Amino acid sequence: MLSLLLSRLRDSPEGLSFAEVMQIALYHPEQGYYGPGPRRIGRAGDFYTAVSVGPLYGRLLAKLAHQTWERLGSPPDFIIMEQAAHDGQLAQDILDACPFPYVIVEPNSSYQTAQRQRLAAYAGRVRWISSIQELAPPAQGSQPALFLCNELLDALPVYLVRWSGKEWQELKVRADAQGGLFFATSRPCAALHEEIAHLPTHLQPGHQVEIHLAAKDWLRELASAPLYGTLCIADYGLDDEEFFLPERAHGTLRRYHQHQMDDRVLQQLGQCDLTSHVPFTRIIATAETLGLKVQSYEHQGRWLSRLALPWLASLEGHSPDTATHALLRQFQALTHPGIMGRSFRALLLEKSATPGAVSLEP
Ligand SMILES: C[S@@+](CC[C@H](N)C(=O)[O-])C[C@H]1O[C@@H](n2cnc3c(N)ncnc32)[C@H](O)[C@@H]1O
Repeated sequence: MLSLLLSRLRDSPEGLSFAEVMQIALYHPEQGYYGPGPRRIGRAGDFYTAVSVGPLYGRLLAKLAHQTWERLGSPPDFIIMEQAAHDGQLAQDILDACPFPYVIVEPNSSYQTAQRQRLAAYAGRVRWISSIQELAPPAQGSQPALFLCNELLDALPVYLVRWSGKEWQELKVRADAQGGLFFATSRPCAALHEEIAHLPTHLQPGHQVEIHLAAKDWLRELASAPLYGTLCIADYGLDDEEFFLPERAHGTLRRYHQHQMDDRVLQQLGQCDLTSHVPFTRIIATAETLGLKVQSYEHQGRWLSRLALPWLASLEGHSPDTATHALLRQFQALTHPGIMGRSFRALLLEKSATPGAVSLEP
């Protein structure tokens, strides 16, 4: 991985943006962290996600699918569409709990193979496309859907900028004569100007933040897809007032390896996950300019508690069996503010069927 980056850096004497480095470190087909195939997530992996907690999360999302289908008037051609399906675990949990057809957006063929193996029992109900643009418009022009992605946005490449006290500067990656990687400041590339204009300037010199251009591009692509219904973005993230607190002065970019987390993001590239908090305030602002409406935005604890309410009510007055005990433990992990309930959030966007409601302009 390092030799690959060093040869790229030799061709770019001014340095590479961190987004380019992160793209290679995570997604290079052979040497990237996510490249060769789905890694274990959960106790035996590098980090936990809501999916890895157990099947309850998928069951609750199946309930959300049902609610969305009803809200849209029970259309017969309703689909669930998932991106970042990883090893197919969430798809399996959802398919187990509801009858809808399922479309997986998966560009990586090794991941598709792993997903096809896991979901072999649902072969007739699942199909794959390699990008959102590949979703073919149905004869009626737009497909009713629940779109889901769990922890996709936190894994998309980010640019880094730092407040000098006078201006925002971009942090680029360079290599020294011994091949050691380091950050150097430079004038921000033109693509960052629009996002930089939204950043505050009352910060202490040195305050660092990530700029999520890839997430913005992704949202634009999703907003123009031939589907209507609910777009559900579940991830950990922050609102603007949390991002710019003095205790976040080093930004939120981190690397994960075997459940250890630190900010030495230029080390062991390709062997560690790299991730940053989703800037929900900016994502919501971008969504609104694209014609998407916020249906709800809340902490995972509150969101999943609402979805789980009928199930929890049905347990009242019964002593739970072993299987129910296991599900209740999953519920606790997913919703407790000290575990995943507060740091994880769910943004549900409403995408209308009206052609032309979505602007393709940035
Ligand atoms: C943090 S993992 C989350 C996996 C899973 N959704 C979960 O919650 O357990 C990030 C995932 O995003 C996937 N990913 C990144 N970019 C993608 C893209 N453009 N299309 C589909 N998946 C993508 C990676 O392959 C990886 O599986």
